[in-house]
Amino acid sequence: MKLGTPLSPTATKVMLLGCGELGKEVVIELQRLGVEVIGVDRYADAPAMQVAHRSHVIQMTDAAALRALVEDERPHLIVPEIEAIATDELARIEADGLATVIPTARATQLTMNREGIRRLAAEDLGLPTSPYAFASTLQELQAGADKVGYPCFVKPVMSSSGKGQSYVETAADIAAAWDYALSAGRVAEARVIVEGRIAFDYEITQLTVRAGPDGAIDTHFCAPVGHRQVKGDYVESWQPQAMSALALERSRDMAGKVTAALGGRGLFGVELFVKGDEVWFSEVSPRPHDTGLVTLATQTYSEFALHARAILGLPVDVTLERPGASAVIYGGMEATGVAFEGVEEALAVPGADLRLFGKPEAFERRRMGVAIARGADTDEARARAVEAAGKVKVVRGS
Ligand SMILES: Nc1ncnc2c1ncn2[C@@H]1O[C@H](COP(=O)(O)OP(=O)(O)OP(=O)(O)O)[C@@H](O)[C@H]1O
Ligand SMILES: [Mg+2]
Repeated sequence: MKLGTPLSPTATKVMLLGCGELGKEVVIELQRLGVEVIGVDRYADAPAMQVAHRSHVIQMTDAAALRALVEDERPHLIVPEIEAIATDELARIEADGLATVIPTARATQLTMNREGIRRLAAEDLGLPTSPYAFASTLQELQAGADKVGYPCFVKPVMSSSGKGQSYVETAADIAAAWDYALSAGRVAEARVIVEGRIAFDYEITQLTVRAGPDGAIDTHFCAPVGHRQVKGDYVESWQPQAMSALALERSRDMAGKVTAALGGRGLFGVELFVKGDEVWFSEVSPRPHDTGLVTLATQTYSEFALHARAILGLPVDVTLERPGASAVIYGGMEATGVAFEGVEEALAVPGADLRLFGKPEAFERRRMGVAIARGADTDEARARAVEAAGKVKVVRGS
């Protein structure tokens, strides 16, 4: 393993596909190791672009545009930060030996589609999941919902952050869920998953790192992250989530199996539902997870630092230093070039810190920043993070 000098012929070059707030933290960690970073997203001045060496604006779902950019920049590693990418082209890029795709091109293909990852987890690996069915028509959806039972969740197979998702209590509401899923799915193809509801006690993200030299990749497990979701989007997370020894063992067993099946190097966010000692696999991101922002406050190396190290083939250390929490700051309005008031008050909350992402445009439900906090325990940390987030007010810039 050799790292070069950025902007020189020896540079170790990483191309980040998707330049949101999670990518921004990964870029900062790569910069610390002298890696040359090229940011790519579909809009200019995205958060991670602001800390990269240079950036490009392209439609990442456009296979030809993606290919042309990779051939031009010749990165060593391609690091996807989002799901909406021409992943079939990534597979060709990998097969042609042009660049290494993190963690693997196949992992990006399987996880961008709920059908791919669900069939892998439930049918190939035998992991417990919610009961599910797939549907391409309203009639199929009705039959699927009857099979999995009510209440259930209807989700477009290609979507994230709760987009197009419905919680359906009775058969009377299925048609509305179908229409909503079609309106919000990422692609024109009409396909949804319907999942029976798991009445969990709590849900966790098991951050899992595959790291090490070729032929000797080891799996490392961070302390479990607990979180609270509203409308399919995370609003609060904390670490560690208290769990029974058996539930933790089962969580890690499942996380180990699914990440091994996806392969490659890097950090994964394995989403699991827990009730008592019982655990169900929900989904997995082959990249840092939004709920893992809490690790900026809690671990010796945040999930972003761990990802940076792992993808470079370097050793990792998943030590938890202290309990902590994170709380999301939403835009609350539609505006460009917003300003943030109350930052002083937020940072005066004991143990609290902030990340403001620098997104050029705010939307009502767009994540613009996050408060992170440490505390004597997760209750104290959560109270502090929520208090600090609440002090920050997004206001119109002019
Ligand atoms: N089958 C289910 N049973 C119970 N709760 C569920 C189920 N499916 C989804 N949820 C709830 O909805 C949340 C979002 O679901 P899911 O993770 O599938 O959506 P997503 O759009 O991929 O969200 P994200 O991209 O933010 O992870 C879950 O974290 C959980 O709180
Ligand atoms: Mg999820």
